[in-house]
Amino acid sequence: MEPGSTSRAQQFDKGLAERVRTRRLRSTDRTVTASDPPYRTQEGRTFLDFCSNDYLGLSRDRGVVDGAIRYAETHGAGATGSRLIAGGLEIHDSLERGLARFANREAALLFSSGFQANVSILPAIANRKGLIFTDRHAHHSILQGALASRAKLLRFRHNDPDHLGWLIERHGKGSRGPALIVTESIFSMDGDRAPLEAICDLADRNDALLMVDDAHAVGVWGSDGEGLAPAHPRIDLVLGTFGKAFGSSGAFVACGTSLRSHLVNFCGGFIYSTAPPPPVLGAVRAALEKITSGELRQDRFQERIRNAHDALRNAGFDTAPSDSQIVPIPMEGEDDALSCARFLHSEGILAVAIRPPTVPTGSSRLRLTINRLHTPEQISQLVAALRRYRDQARRK
Ligand SMILES: Cc1ncc(COP(=O)(O)O)c(C=O)c1O
Repeated sequence: MEPGSTSRAQQFDKGLAERVRTRRLRSTDRTVTASDPPYRTQEGRTFLDFCSNDYLGLSRDRGVVDGAIRYAETHGAGATGSRLIAGGLEIHDSLERGLARFANREAALLFSSGFQANVSILPAIANRKGLIFTDRHAHHSILQGALASRAKLLRFRHNDPDHLGWLIERHGKGSRGPALIVTESIFSMDGDRAPLEAICDLADRNDALLMVDDAHAVGVWGSDGEGLAPAHPRIDLVLGTFGKAFGSSGAFVACGTSLRSHLVNFCGGFIYSTAPPPPVLGAVRAALEKITSGELRQDRFQERIRNAHDALRNAGFDTAPSDSQIVPIPMEGEDDALSCARFLHSEGILAVAIRPPTVPTGSSRLRLTINRLHTPEQISQLVAALRRYRDQARRK
C-alpha cells in the first residue's frame, strides 16, 4: 500500500469515479512553464495565453521581480510568525498605509490570500444572530465565509438589487445581529459589473454593512487602476487581491480604522496565520508603485478591452453582459466547451472551458481573459481561431 493510501481514504473513490464518468475530474497534471506574458509554455510548446489573471503582465515584470528579491535579501524569506506574535514588520505597516491611500480608505489589513480573507472576514463581521446577503454568483470563498459565520444566508439573484431589497424587507426585520451584504464588483466568471450605487443605497437604507470584493477590478479599472469600489465611500469593506493584476499573491481589505481594529481582534484568518512574507510584500509594493504611476496606461488597456469585445461581437460571438477583461463565450454544453478549448489549444491558444460545478448547469462557457500585453493582431488571431472552430462545428 502506498503511504497515505489507506482503506479509509477509499470512501472518496466513488465521488471521484463520478467525476471521471461525467468528465468533470479536476487534476493538476497539466502544468505550464512560466514565460513572458502574454505567452505560456506547455510541454515545450509556446501558446498565446488567454486564460491567466495576470491582467497587466506584472508577474514577470523586472521591477516587480526585483522588488521581491530586494525585500527577500533585506528582510528574509519569511515573516517568522503571525502579525500579533513577532511577525509584524515595518514593511507590513508601510504597505498597508499605501494600500489604504490606494483604496481611498482610512486603513488596510493584509492577508495571505483572497480566499483566506473572505473565508475569515465574513465570520468576524456577522454571527449566528445576523444575516448575510450575497449575490448568487459570488465567489466560492464568499459562500464559505458566509457558511462559516453561521449567520442566516440569503442569496440574491445575480446583479438584481430589487431582489436584494425584497430579501432584506422579508428577512431583515427580525434580525438581532449585524446584517452584511457582499458582492463582487467585476464577477470572476461573468466579467460583468455589480450595480454598486444601487446596492450602497440598499445598505444605507437598511443599516447593513457592505463588503465588495474588487479582486478583478484592482489594477485594471478606476481612474488610476484603483478598482471600482474605492469610488464609493459608502462601501464599508473593500477587498483587493494581489494574485491577479498585481501579478503575485495575497490580499488586503481596506476599511475604516475601527473596522480594521475589529478585524485585528476578531478575524481568525488574520490572528492565527503567519504574516505575508517579505518577498511577496516587495513584489506587491513594486506593483502598487507601477499601477499608481500611470506608466501602465490602464486607459489604453481599457480601450483595448472594448475593442476586443467589438471584434468578438462583430464575428458573431456573444460577449454580453461582460464589458471587462473577463470575456465569457457561451457554449452549447460541457462537451462543446471542452472541444472548443481543445481546438484553440491545437491552434496555439490557451483558453479554459468553465463547466459545472464552477458555474451553474447549462452555463458552460469559454472564459477568455484579455491582457494588457495582447496586441490587436493577437486578438484577431483569437477571433479567427474561434471562427474556424464554429465553422468546423457547424459542418459536423
Ligand atoms: C472574486 C474573487 N475573490 C477572491 C478570490 C480568491 O483570491 P486568492 O486567489 O487570492 O485566494 C478569487 C480568486 O479566484 C476571486 O476571483
